[in-house]
Amino acid sequence: MKIGLLILFVLFLVLPPDGIHKSLAARPSVVHIGSILRFNSTIGGASVVAIQAALEDINSDPTVLNGTTLKVDMRDTNCDDGFLGMVQALQFMETDVIAIIGPQCSTIAHIVSYVANELRVPLMSFASDATLSSIQFPFFVRTAPSDLYQMDAVAALVDYYRWKIVTAIYLDDDYGRNGIAALDDALTERRCKISYKVGFSSSAKKGDLINLLVSVSYMESRVIILHTGAGPGFKLLSLANQLSMMGNGYVWIATDWLSAYLDANSSVPAETMYGMQGVLTLRPHIPKSKMKSDLISKWSRVSKQYNHSDLRTSSYAFYVYDSVWTVARALDAFFDDGGKITFSNDSRLRDEVGGTLHLEAMSVFDMGNNLLDKIRKVNFTGASGQVQFAVTGDLIHPAYDIININGNGMRTVGYWSNYSRLLSTVLPEVLYSKPPNSSLANQRLYDVIWPGQTAQKPRGWAFPSNAKELKIGVPNRFSFKEFVTKDNVTGSMKGYCIDVFTQALALLPYPVTYKFVPFGSGTENPHYDKLVQMVEDNEFDAAIGDIAITMSRTITNDFTQPFIESGLVILAPVKKHITNSWAFLQPFTLQMWCVTGLFFLIVGAVVWVLEHRINDEFRGSPREQIITIFWYGADSNILELNISRSRLRALGSPEEYAKALKSGPKRGGVMAIVDERPYVELFLSTNCKIAVAGSDFTSRGWGFAFPRDSPLQIDLSTAILSLSENGELQRIHDKWLKTGECSADNTEFVDSDQLRLESFWGLFLICGVACVIALLIYFVTIIRKYLRHEHPEEPIPPEEPSPKKGGSKYNCRKFFSYLDHKEPPKKKQTLSSLSSTPTTPVTNFTVLEIERPVRTVRNGSVVDIED
Ligand SMILES: *[C@@H]1O[C@H](CO)[C@@H](O)[C@H](O)[C@H]1NC(C)=O
Ligand SMILES: *[C@@H]1O[C@H](CO)[C@@H](O)[C@H](O)[C@H]1NC(C)=O
Ligand SMILES: *[C@@H]1O[C@H](CO)[C@@H](O)[C@H](O)[C@H]1NC(C)=O
Ligand SMILES: *[C@@H]1O[C@H](CO)[C@@H](O)[C@H](O)[C@H]1NC(C)=O
Ligand SMILES: *[C@@H]1O[C@H](CO)[C@@H](O)[C@H](O)[C@H]1NC(C)=O
Ligand SMILES: *[C@@H]1O[C@H](CO)[C@@H](O)[C@H](O)[C@H]1NC(C)=O
Ligand SMILES: *[C@@H]1O[C@H](CO)[C@@H](O)[C@H](O)[C@H]1NC(C)=O
Ligand SMILES: *[C@@H]1O[C@H](CO)[C@@H](O)[C@H](O)[C@H]1NC(C)=O
Ligand SMILES: *[C@@H]1O[C@H](CO)[C@@H](O)[C@H](O)[C@H]1NC(C)=O
Ligand SMILES: *[C@@H]1O[C@H](CO)[C@@H](O)[C@H](O)[C@H]1NC(C)=O
Ligand SMILES: *[C@@H]1O[C@H](CO)[C@@H](O)[C@H](O)[C@H]1NC(C)=O
Repeated sequence: MKIGLLILFVLFLVLPPDGIHKSLAARPSVVHIGSILRFNSTIGGASVVAIQAALEDINSDPTVLNGTTLKVDMRDTNCDDGFLGMVQALQFMETDVIAIIGPQCSTIAHIVSYVANELRVPLMSFASDATLSSIQFPFFVRTAPSDLYQMDAVAALVDYYRWKIVTAIYLDDDYGRNGIAALDDALTERRCKISYKVGFSSSAKKGDLINLLVSVSYMESRVIILHTGAGPGFKLLSLANQLSMMGNGYVWIATDWLSAYLDANSSVPAETMYGMQGVLTLRPHIPKSKMKSDLISKWSRVSKQYNHSDLRTSSYAFYVYDSVWTVARALDAFFDDGGKITFSNDSRLRDEVGGTLHLEAMSVFDMGNNLLDKIRKVNFTGASGQVQFAVTGDLIHPAYDIININGNGMRTVGYWSNYSRLLSTVLPEVLYSKPPNSSLANQRLYDVIWPGQTAQKPRGWAFPSNAKELKIGVPNRFSFKEFVTKDNVTGSMKGYCIDVFTQALALLPYPVTYKFVPFGSGTENPHYDKLVQMVEDNEFDAAIGDIAITMSRTITNDFTQPFIESGLVILAPVKKHITNSWAFLQPFTLQMWCVTGLFFLIVGAVVWVLEHRINDEFRGSPREQIITIFWYGADSNILELNISRSRLRALGSPEEYAKALKSGPKRGGVMAIVDERPYVELFLSTNCKIAVAGSDFTSRGWGFAFPRDSPLQIDLSTAILSLSENGELQRIHDKWLKTGECSADNTEFVDSDQLRLESFWGLFLICGVACVIALLIYFVTIIRKYLRHEHPEEPIPPEEPSPKKGGSKYNCRKFFSYLDHKEPPKKKQTLSSLSSTPTTPVTNFTVLEIERPVRTVRNGSVVDIED
């Protein structure tokens, strides 16, 4: 009896509590999941090993799926042949599986995703195709980063090195096309673009690939992005090497297929590596962890066991390993919730399709939704890092290593993480512990050894060898021909701007063939906005000349660095000896122009603007904006008035310019002239009697116009900078635009920019008048006080007889002695309303206002002093 009780007691202790017992009992002893991989591929082979390693670990770990053995049925599929691969995958779906690791290839993933949705079987896929979104395919669970992030990283790399255009070579299937589409979006966001896209089929012959590479080499861009699989990718790289496209000037960026292959394949020959020197590639970033190193240490044993001893771990192996763990953990939670593995026939498959395809053999995983839910909620640290799914269905914290192939190995030059969306030399997991900082100042990579064994960053583009002659539009000027015009005799274009352009071109390290096309008749000045517009419309490849870089023009076109300063300048006829009212105001108004950058005009005065470009349209040009803004000096209101064009007079030549200025507004001339500085300077060099009156109130320059994102523009800008630094620009300037002929002695007009003593006489006058008035007021107050003091009873009677002579003398003395011993005020009165208002803390005796009653601040409070 006692023994019986004891046995019962022991049994009670040994047997688990009721609930756990139930759930354990409900658990099947074996659970099958499937996997669709391509065993032959490097990634597929590594995945096989990773799955086996994961199974070993899971089945020996009592904390996960205790009592249940996880098994994986693996199926080999063919990725190259989409149809065959699809049939193999569909056949596999007929077996009752509750989750699938894979498919590996994006093409098959697309098809299988539809089926998985119908059968409610979660797909744990590392296909990177960005279009396999979890919205369209809820049962597609991406266990590796999407190409969206990889392409963002590539675009960040392109942008970091300031390349503007790239060539994309891709495998023409779902994976390649969708990857390049994502790249296109990412580059566009950073104002870069794919200038040439070329796809090829996985069955392309060597000849096709050579033709492809030759077509790429004809293109302008030297930055080539290779988004393919390992097989064709290596073929292309080795052919490119033979075509000497792996040399100086080229940039190759391979997506993660290259790093995955090089990581996993231990037997890549050294020659292959030496053929790829300087190539950049990306690798999904796997942080260092114990689980990672555990997997690496058991890898060689497991890989030998499964006949893949030539394979090492790659990023994908870690993702696959974690996928199996994800399923195991989700299943655990699934069973804990009372989940059961049952299947039912899909009535839609049975009734509608079926037929000879035997699709009715496929069955629906009844509680697939529950399992999917558990998978999406997992949160654990695996071999690949934190395994947790964001709302988008992606693993959180996508990050990539940026790798440079150098010597016989790979060198990590930095990292990209979605956390900051920047390139950085700081490990992503270090960044995660700080708040995200997207400051571009943090962007940095270690030095890269580029193809051709150079550390110097390639320019990223070359003048295309099949390039046509550049058609360059050049203004054919009528006036100020020194800047640019057509030579009457030779018919060629000449002038200051032409010299700057040819000198800058000579600095480029490559030849550029071009021809100048005169724009305009030469009998009047051409319309510059139209010229720039023609560049935008691709009628010209560039436009050079005296083209002002204005806001409206930079919206549509790119400009080089300015080669000469410009900006609008005011010329006003200020003579030294003029003392009329206009001259009195002038120094102030002109200073106001300089300070505020606004054009000042006195009402009634007429401004005629010299318009040497006869046909220039005023509408929309900065000139118009300036002449339509008036500032009424006293009232600082800015009014915008539209001056009708009839009030503007266009003057055709520098001679008219001088004449109009000299005659002045009263005699049909102009009062002020607004024009760009270089013209004004040239004009002044031959017209000694005139000088600049007001300085620039816009700051800009002249540059050469190019279409958007033209690489030539960037190189020319650099060339112009070096011309400026070595003094060549000044030499060209002196050759064409002589200045300094006029000496200061014969300058009739003065530069009123300078402040002289007489500039201030108006101010002195105002101050003097103010002082006199203040003094008068003071005396009037004092005299009134004095009179009241003398006659306290009655106010001063108006009919009081005038004082006598002696009386007047006495009165004077009395008055002065009153001034000397001023009597204190008779009584004080505090104005409560005023003292209650807050007053600024002041020193003991500050007079605020001189008026009646006199208010004084005394010891922090305002008091009224009655007289
Ligand atoms: C694997 O590769 C071998 C040799 O390269 C080939 O014969 C075989 O057909 C391939 N298998 C698959 C499934 O692609
Ligand atoms: C590893 O690379 C070598 C040389 O490129 C190749 O012959 C071999 O098939 C590769 N191994 C695997 C598993 O891809
Ligand atoms: C796993 O199950 C066995 C018996 O089925 C039990 O003895 C063991 O304690 C369980 N382990 C855990 C961690 O639950
Ligand atoms: C590995 O290869 C050997 C010999 O070819 C074969 O006997 C064995 O079954 C293979 N093992 C696996 C896991 O495929
Ligand atoms: C599903 O259909 C197959 C044949 O069409 C049949 O053998 C099987 O019993 C059915 N299963 C269920 C659960 O109805
Ligand atoms: C996931 O786990 C980590 C640590 O293991 C924890 O800090 C985090 O809060 C968890 N996230 C969620 C959503 O449960
Ligand atoms: C990547 O970053 C963007 C913006 O910073 C964020 O909206 C998105 O959720 C991130 N993706 C993942 C998977 O964390
Ligand atoms: C971001 O980084 C920049 C450069 O290191 C630093 O100046 C800035 O303060 C940082 N911003 C924040 C919010 O931490
Ligand atoms: C250039 O040609 C125009 C008209 O064709 C003529 O008026 C002008 O004098 C010529 N100038 C020179 C320098 O030959
Ligand atoms: C204000 O006056 C008092 C005496 O009337 C003097 O002690 C004090 O220093 C004065 N304060 C200032 C700021 O002059
Ligand atoms: C202001 O007045 C207070 C008392 O009314 C006095 O204590 C203080 O010294 C005075 N301050 C000055 C600067 O006179």
